[in-house]
Amino acid sequence: MSSEKLSVKQARLPECIGKTIKIEGWVRTRRDSKAGFSFLEINDGSCLSNLQIIADANLANYESQIKTLNTGASVAVEGLMKESGGKGQATELVAKSVVVYGEADPETYPLQKKRHSFEKLREWAHLRSRTNTFGAVARVRNCICNSIHQFFQEQEFLYVHTPIITASDCEGAGAMFQVTTLDLDKIAEKEIKYLDFKQDFFQRRAYLTVSGQLEGETYACALGKIYTFGPTFRAEKSNTTRHLAEFWMIEPEMAFYELEDNMDLAEAFIKRIAKDAITLCPEDMQLFNEHVEPGLIEALQKVVDSQFVRLPYTEAVEILTGCGQKFEYEVKWGSDLQSEHERYLTEQHFKSPVILYNYPRKIKPFYMYCNDDEKTVRGMDVLVPRVGEIIGGSQREHRLEVLEARMAEQGIPAEDYWWYSDLRRFGTVPHAGFGLGLERAVQFITGMTNIRDVIPFPRFPGNVEF
Ligand code: 4AD
Ligand code: MG
Repeated sequence: MSSEKLSVKQARLPECIGKTIKIEGWVRTRRDSKAGFSFLEINDGSCLSNLQIIADANLANYESQIKTLNTGASVAVEGLMKESGGKGQATELVAKSVVVYGEADPETYPLQKKRHSFEKLREWAHLRSRTNTFGAVARVRNCICNSIHQFFQEQEFLYVHTPIITASDCEGAGAMFQVTTLDLDKIAEKEIKYLDFKQDFFQRRAYLTVSGQLEGETYACALGKIYTFGPTFRAEKSNTTRHLAEFWMIEPEMAFYELEDNMDLAEAFIKRIAKDAITLCPEDMQLFNEHVEPGLIEALQKVVDSQFVRLPYTEAVEILTGCGQKFEYEVKWGSDLQSEHERYLTEQHFKSPVILYNYPRKIKPFYMYCNDDEKTVRGMDVLVPRVGEIIGGSQREHRLEVLEARMAEQGIPAEDYWWYSDLRRFGTVPHAGFGLGLERAVQFITGMTNIRDVIPFPRFPGNVEF
């Protein structure tokens, strides 16, 4: 018997009826019927649903193996696909053989049928992908990544790989992980007070990147429209539901784009990701809609269909100071908005995504374009309900003198950024770009409240297990 190997997703389709097939996966449940057979529900991760298997008592290993199969055991099943009379499925597989690859002892296997909290499942990050919710998160995350590439590729953006190890601090926030091959134990032993980084691997201080933007700009200023998609690192001690120490960022950068063009692109981008998730992952999205965030799909559809609010920072401050709402942090022109303020604007005041722009120059990095008012820069943040800031970006300062003055203002050593300034020295052009935090996008689309649950192995202060 040669049987076609199918995924559960394929085998659930009615066109498989009548075929002899093989599937491989993990047992979710086993029920024994008094009529002399057992039902097995098999999942292989290809979709949320399981495939129902009918395993007859005549099978050679029925008593010795099949009847004792537990949740989590791994099997290969060959047999004939039949139309199913049961609810929730079009097909079922009548087993001719069931091979058991590995058993899962119910005394010690953590993922029993009972529901576990997301907190508990974080301790079993190596197994949680076997649950319905985390399987769905993985599939939707994959769908989002695919949409991102398609969105940019369709518009002839080039995918550029910027370095992971770098000497520059793009965001100037100083929240960088240092990369070194110096022997820290030896240094401690010798009680050396001043380190000579000439002895280090790169012969100077080096870090894990917080953003690929600066290097991305060099490619945009040669090739037009580019995007990066890679891991970024921030050593912020933020123990929140929206911060990770290691996260993935997508950073488009476009020559000949100004702030308005940048906003248009960011808005179209978010809408595309949301629309694709709804249409391409209906089953998984339904799970989030029912069990994680009621009303999610309708809310996302509204985001897809409506226009984002665009609001200057100064007007946002006026709304926040005049709204009568008590905030933990006071709102003052010139200070950064806290997530409570951002969420008030997007969730309560506008009930829509909001693009805030023209921020005070003092609170934004050196590379943002300075407005003529000498007080604000052409930076923009996209805020969405439930998550807050999902995108940060700006038009870039392309005038050499202004850029140099800004570096001086912020105490940034211009000589370290000679190559960045060169873009302004030779054929400078207006350009703009932004960064989307992938995990915040996955939170927004799935409704998952904690960012640690939308990346397979979250890194945060005090946690680098797995
Ligand atoms: O606003 P940020 O810091 O902007 C930049 O890094 C720019 N260089 C991007 C650019 O213009 N090319 O970060 C961009 C986005 C944020 O809006 C947020 O979605 C995400 O990255 N982000 C984080 N996500 C998870 N954990 C963290 N610690 C994050 N910090 C930023
Ligand atoms: Mg930001």
